[in-house]
Amino acid sequence: MAKNIAVIGTGYVGLVSSVGLSDFGNYVTGVDVNPEIVEKLNRGVPTIYELGLEDYLKRNLESGRLTFTTDIDTAIQQAEIVFLAVGTPQSESGEADLSQVEQVVGSIARNLNGFKVVVCKSTVPVGTNRWVKRRLEELSGKSANQPDPAFAVVSNPEFLREGKAVQDFFHPDRLVLGYEAPKAREYMEDVYRVLNLIHVPIVWCGLETAELIKYASNAFLATKITFINQMAVLAEAAGADIHVIARSMGMDGRISPKFLHPGPGYGGSCFPKDTHALVSTGASYGVEMSLVREVIAANRQMKAHVVDRLLKMTGGPGSLQGKVVAVLGLAFKAETDDVRESPAITIVQRLLEEGATVQTHDPEALANFKALFGDTLQYHEHEFDAIKGADVLLIVTEWNEYRNLDLERAKNEMRGNVIMDARNVLEPEKARSLGFNYRGIGR
Ligand SMILES: NC(=O)c1ccc[n+]([C@@H]2O[C@H](COP(=O)([O-])OP(=O)(O)OC[C@H]3O[C@@H](n4cnc5c(N)ncnc54)[C@H](O)[C@@H]3O)[C@@H](O)[C@H]2O)c1
Repeated sequence: MAKNIAVIGTGYVGLVSSVGLSDFGNYVTGVDVNPEIVEKLNRGVPTIYELGLEDYLKRNLESGRLTFTTDIDTAIQQAEIVFLAVGTPQSESGEADLSQVEQVVGSIARNLNGFKVVVCKSTVPVGTNRWVKRRLEELSGKSANQPDPAFAVVSNPEFLREGKAVQDFFHPDRLVLGYEAPKAREYMEDVYRVLNLIHVPIVWCGLETAELIKYASNAFLATKITFINQMAVLAEAAGADIHVIARSMGMDGRISPKFLHPGPGYGGSCFPKDTHALVSTGASYGVEMSLVREVIAANRQMKAHVVDRLLKMTGGPGSLQGKVVAVLGLAFKAETDDVRESPAITIVQRLLEEGATVQTHDPEALANFKALFGDTLQYHEHEFDAIKGADVLLIVTEWNEYRNLDLERAKNEMRGNVIMDARNVLEPEKARSLGFNYRGIGR
């Protein structure tokens, strides 16, 4: 049966979940503290860039099953299920900052006017859901104990990929649901009935297991990217081609070809903070997560490697002073406007320190990047406006449109001839045949 749901936090995860859960036939109220976000969403204007999101948003608003509000109290009172999708950013000490989660738990406790299932979709360290349960009991004076719990807690970590978030919501590889109370499981079966019908695998497990599945998955993927990046540096030094190496590795079914694309180091709102948080969690249990710690360090080196490599091409230390660098791609990966922890941030910062003038282009992320760098850079809506007069062309994000870049035109419009292709999206032979001094990663 359709459920009344409140989704707290309407960022990348909360907005996509709100839209998706209402598309499943549930009645959903998306809640955010930011009134501008709520106002836009109620008008059907997406506040993030995700392919397909606008259509789903409009359709579900029109159906009357979806609405957005800043009134968290009423939304919780009316809901049978409350999803937490607020941010859990990295704190200064590296742990996950749970202050947004804590605030929402306070709101739920105040409005516990009947049985509710509290579902945590935010990525939270192992033990957090049990803490949420304890804290709700303390604050509300009600018990989650069987046989007649006043509420139940479910850990439902989210695995959607930015850029493919809508597709991932409707066709996830799996759902992970950590729970204790049978009643909570019945509610979640109703919420996700549509996915069950299309045979999406559902992993029912304990709260702690669900929490750790999320961190284990992200840390593993971060490790895989970092592995191929380090192999790429070695391949380059040894005169081998990382493309052929990665493709051949991927032919081994145990390895798989996914996440074997070398680049300027991973970024985004998840891998960096989740790897740090996992190291902190390990420490709190007396377990040294040495491998993940090394991945974090190697990823930092990879970002530096891109500019170091570029400096070698332009004549060594100081050689970027006064040069114009066109940076194509600012988002942390293609198909998103998200620049959180984007490798472009570290790279552009370094270029400015080296005395370069930076002309940037990105199809979706210009506004978010400008919020960080202000007037210290130039921002262009057309890639050739960024390329014009540049000494160096540096590709940082693998947007499809860069794969077919008109290199002849670039040759004519640039002042110099250096291309650093940090995503290996161009054809090296073609670039070299046009007279470019071209470098990819690991080729
Ligand atoms: N972005 C991803 O690709 C992704 C994927 C999987 C999991 N996650 C996890 O999901 C969680 C959310 O990530 P995100 O990227 O959607 O974050 P986000 O920063 O885009 O969105 C969080 C939203 O919560 C709102 N908010 C903060 N405090 C609030 C409160 N007290 N009441 C109501 N709204 C409040 C903020 O205004 C913001 O709009 C994080 O834990 C993240 O690690 C993210």
